[in-house]
Formats: sequence, structure tokens, C-alpha cells
Amino acid sequence: MDANRLQLNPSNGPLYAGIPTIVTYNGSNFANLVPLKYKYPLLFASIRVHSRLIIQNEGALFLEWQNRHQTKLLPRPLLSAIPLPPPMNEQIASIQSQALELIATATDERSLDDARVASIGKKGTLSLAGALIKDIPNEEKAAFGQSLNAARTAITSAIDEKQAALQEVADKAALSGIDLTLPARALPTGGLHPLTLIRDEAIQILRRMGFALAEGPEIEDEYHCFDALNTPADHPARNEKDTFYFNSGKLLRTHTSSVQIRTMETAAPPIRIIAPGSAYRRDEIDATHLSVFNQLEGLFVDTDVTLPDLKGTLEYFFHEMFGTSTEVRFRPHFFPFTEPSFEIDVKLQIKGQPPRWIEVAGCGMVDPAVFESINATRKDNALDPTKITGFAFGMGLDRLAMIRWGIRDIRLLIENDTRFLSQFA
Ligand code: PHE
Repeated sequence: MDANRLQLNPSNGPLYAGIPTIVTYNGSNFANLVPLKYKYPLLFASIRVHSRLIIQNEGALFLEWQNRHQTKLLPRPLLSAIPLPPPMNEQIASIQSQALELIATATDERSLDDARVASIGKKGTLSLAGALIKDIPNEEKAAFGQSLNAARTAITSAIDEKQAALQEVADKAALSGIDLTLPARALPTGGLHPLTLIRDEAIQILRRMGFALAEGPEIEDEYHCFDALNTPADHPARNEKDTFYFNSGKLLRTHTSSVQIRTMETAAPPIRIIAPGSAYRRDEIDATHLSVFNQLEGLFVDTDVTLPDLKGTLEYFFHEMFGTSTEVRFRPHFFPFTEPSFEIDVKLQIKGQPPRWIEVAGCGMVDPAVFESINATRKDNALDPTKITGFAFGMGLDRLAMIRWGIRDIRLLIENDTRFLSQFA
């Protein structure tokens, strides 16, 4: 080894832990060496890149050059040019001021983060210096730790301050050109669906007359949907109202009249209920028919319910619903579970079209055969047909909505077209 040609490049600063130092040896440039170990004031440092450089002061100051094959010691005089590392607290002060400098000159989030990583990041200058605490003499550890912490605190708060300042600048830029005194943009408001509106209104009117809400399943059995309603399997009315069957034999109810049965199975007269809900039918879909539609069932059972009660109740209902000038017509009809039976028509008025009657409900006096079949199920005579009478009705809520708002096609109610629906909001 030609010792004369070994030199530390002073322009790259003193040789100390954590700070890259340039060492040239025999013309090779060991750039950016990072010393692994440094002990002061014993002046002991080891540096490793391809090999290891050790400066130590043990009796005499010398430099050891070591690689796999050789270890050579350099006598002190040759090293007189090597600057001694400054004391640890000075090193930390210098790390701190370099970090603060980088933070101060950061122009955006990115460069600020780079400054953070370079100083207090896992492999940052301060963190590497901190790792040396284990090599520091015990009596100096406390002071070393204190100056490390002070530096970390100073750097962290400088980063926080800079971060806030950068954020403020960014916020200002984002807000420039926005006039905060302008009125806010209106948010679109939602509204209830016309079917919900009409159902709630119907419920309100009927509740004022003393009807309570009741309900039953949409997936029904044939007994509640047909047999108990005086419609045995071979009855032609079944065909007319045919529906969707499940493999289990259950079916989607064709009408809400099944709720009449379910109510009478458990309640005793006087019974006054209404049951809004979906009904399903294998119908051709057109301007006044849907295969899934909405009904509202009504049932009044007591000791002396008469046909005038039925007529009065429903006339009152339609006048409340559509106004007293609305024409309502009761037309004789047939239902297996009522006798006599009627269909109710109301005039539908559509702009630019002549008014026409449309059917909105079926109704009638409860057939005594219905009471009898329920008594058989209940195993009592709670609905004694010689003492008990009743009326029932089932209205199509979709049709009521058509009449209320002059809707020309029932399909508009299920298409969810906001141009149509927003008119009700
Ligand atoms: N359930 C009948 C239908 O859906 C309507 C109705 C209900 C008729 C109650 C009479 C009594 O057509």
C-alpha cells in the first residue's frame, strides 16, 4: 500500500458517522461511504464499502486498511491531514441545521417529504446518528440522547409548520376564482312515488272511519286465496284470476282478499280492517293492466252491517279522495265471496280526451259461505251467519292514482322515468 496517496477529501466535510464522506485511495474513489461505527472521543470509526477503513486512536493514531487479504496500519504522521470529527453534539447540530435548511426550501409536499425521509426517516441522517448511542460512553449517553431528541423535535415541528404553510397556499389556490358569496347550487329533492301518496291518503281516509291496518303474505296458499273465499278448485272464477304458482303449490296472491280470511281466522266481530298490498295476475299488460299491481282490501264485519253501509262508506271514500263532484257508479257484478256484488267505476278525465268510466274496485256483502268455512277452521261459531253480516271491498290503487292525476297509461307508474315522477315531488 502506498500510504502517501491515501487521503481524505476535506472538501467533502469531516469524516463522521451518518454523513457520507469521500475517501480516495490509490486513485479509486470510494464515493459516499457511510461510516458504520463511530466512537468519540476515542476517535474510532469504521467505514465499509468494498473494504473497511478504520481510524483509531489506541496509543498512537493510525489508519487501518483492511480487506479480505490484508490489514495494514498507517503511522500517525501520515494521518495528520485527516480532520478530526467534531464532538457528537456539534454533529447533531449540523444534521439539524441541514435538515431545517432542506425543510425551509421545500416547495411542495413531495420535496418536504424528501426532507423528512433524509433527516428523520428510518435511514435518515439523524436516525443513523441515533443508532450510535450504543457506542457512546455511558456518562455521555444522557446528553447525547437529549440533543438527539431536541433535534428530532425541532425537525418535526419545522416539518409540521411547513406542512401547514404549504396546505394554506394550496387551499388558497384551490379557492381562488370561487365566489363564496354566490348562492349555493340547489340539490335535487326527492319525493314520494304517486302510488305511495295515493296509498297513504287512502289509508288516512279509511282510518278516520275506524278501519285498522292488517296484512298477510304475498306468497299465499290456495286455501286462503281461493277455497276459503268460496272459490273451490273447479270454480270458473279461478281461471279468470289465474296466477303464478310455485312448485310447492303456493302461489302469488291474485288479490288482497286472502287477508280477509287470515283476519277472520283469529279476530272476532266487530272487525274493521284495511289491507294495502301487492297482487299478482297473469294479465296481458296494457294501458290499464299490470301483472303486479296494488290493491287495498277492506272488511267490515259486525251484527248488522248492511248494503247501504257499504255504499255510503265507499261513496264517502271516493268523494274524500277525488272531490264531491266526482261521479261514482256501482255496477252489479259477480264475486264468489260476496253476494250481492258490485264493481265500482269512476270517471277518468285526461286532458284532451273525452272522460270515460274506469273500474276501480270490486265490493259486496260477505257471502255467508265464507263465514261458514272460517267457522269450520276456527272450530267455533264466532261468525254465525244468522247473526253476523259484513261488507268487503278491494280497490286498485294504481287505478286510483290514474284518476287522481289524469294518468293515461298505468305503465308510467312502474317505469321509474324521472320526467314523470318528478311531477309528484
Ligand atoms: N278481490 C276482488 C278482486 O281482486 C275484489 C273484491 C274484494 C271484491 C272484496 C269483493 C270484495 O277483483
